[in-house]
Amino acid sequence: MIVLGIETSCDETGIGAYCSERGLLADGLYSQVEIHARYGGVIPELASRDHVRKTLPLIREVLAEAGLALSDIDGIAYTAGPGLVGALLVGASIGRALAEGLDVPALGVHHMEGHLLAPLLEDGGLEFPFLALLVSGGHSQLVRAEGIGDYTMLGESLDDAAGEAFDKVAKMLGLPYPGGPHLARLAEQGDPERFDFPRPMTKRPGLEFSFSGLKTYVRTVIAEQRESAGELDEQTRADIARAFEEAMVDTLAIKCRRAIRRTGLESLVIAGGVSANKRLRQVLEQQLGADAVHYAAPRYCTDNGAMIAYAGCMRLLAGESEGLEIKVRPRWPLESLSTIGTAPTKSALRI
Ligand code: KG4
Ligand code: ZN
Repeated sequence: MIVLGIETSCDETGIGAYCSERGLLADGLYSQVEIHARYGGVIPELASRDHVRKTLPLIREVLAEAGLALSDIDGIAYTAGPGLVGALLVGASIGRALAEGLDVPALGVHHMEGHLLAPLLEDGGLEFPFLALLVSGGHSQLVRAEGIGDYTMLGESLDDAAGEAFDKVAKMLGLPYPGGPHLARLAEQGDPERFDFPRPMTKRPGLEFSFSGLKTYVRTVIAEQRESAGELDEQTRADIARAFEEAMVDTLAIKCRRAIRRTGLESLVIAGGVSANKRLRQVLEQQLGADAVHYAAPRYCTDNGAMIAYAGCMRLLAGESEGLEIKVRPRWPLESLSTIGTAPTKSALRI
């Protein structure tokens, strides 16, 4: 079965073509970073308009790269939530219309399920059950995954998501939007010993996260530095970035270890944009062992169409599809998804 995946939940248009026998055939991405950078954050209306401009041309590009004709498509999967409602509606409408025109089934996919399953695009060694740390711009979640759709929420962020905290601190340090990857690069030059930032909510039991206090702490340190030394020099900015990254990574790792102890699960999946963070991968691998930690290639950690094609393919193969109504869900609990089982079909990357 060949499934076309359409991702338009936020500020990237992502398209993927996934085949249940041959794996990922091709995928492409249009990032809207330049459009939103001048505002320091995503402007929903501009995001929707750009998805309208980019989705169809990108579908054509990805099909051409995969050597597919429209008639080769057996099913369509589009992100139906969570996300920006206008942006979601663009992908959902195009996906639905295409499916109707081609007379194939279509399905709305949960964006975070897409992230959670993304490591399965390439990682033949990963099997259910596993613990998943989902860390993106909108979510920080620890999930027990018993099979596709069989998810139990173990802990969530009470305020800012991990990626959001990275982005806000990056902004305080004068880095461009979205700040996470810029902050990570700056942190590489930083001295980990100079500042010591708190690890929020790690002293008391529980698997919840809260990052807004850490953010305020960083703001205070920046203000103190400015007061004593004027504008921050490059080394001080790098040292603050490093201390913040260490605090974030350490906090996430403490919660992962705690969840592993509590559940007895042996494999950890990290997914979502922040799972592209090198320091997070390194620390988790050091602490849990390289074989226990699973993640996707960086381009499949951040938003992409391949993960939506994959998740959609698994569900369409299981016989799921939806009627003509175009439904999107800006808020959509991961735990409410239907369970379809544990055995993803063979996956292999074409490239
Ligand atoms: O999954 P994603 O692409 O979009 C959402 O679903 O939100 O995640 C985007 C988030 C942004 O906050 C971005 O700054 C963060 O992931 N991010 C990173 C890194 N790469 C992306 N954060 C830290 N280190 C990185 N290398
Ligand atoms: Zn995402």
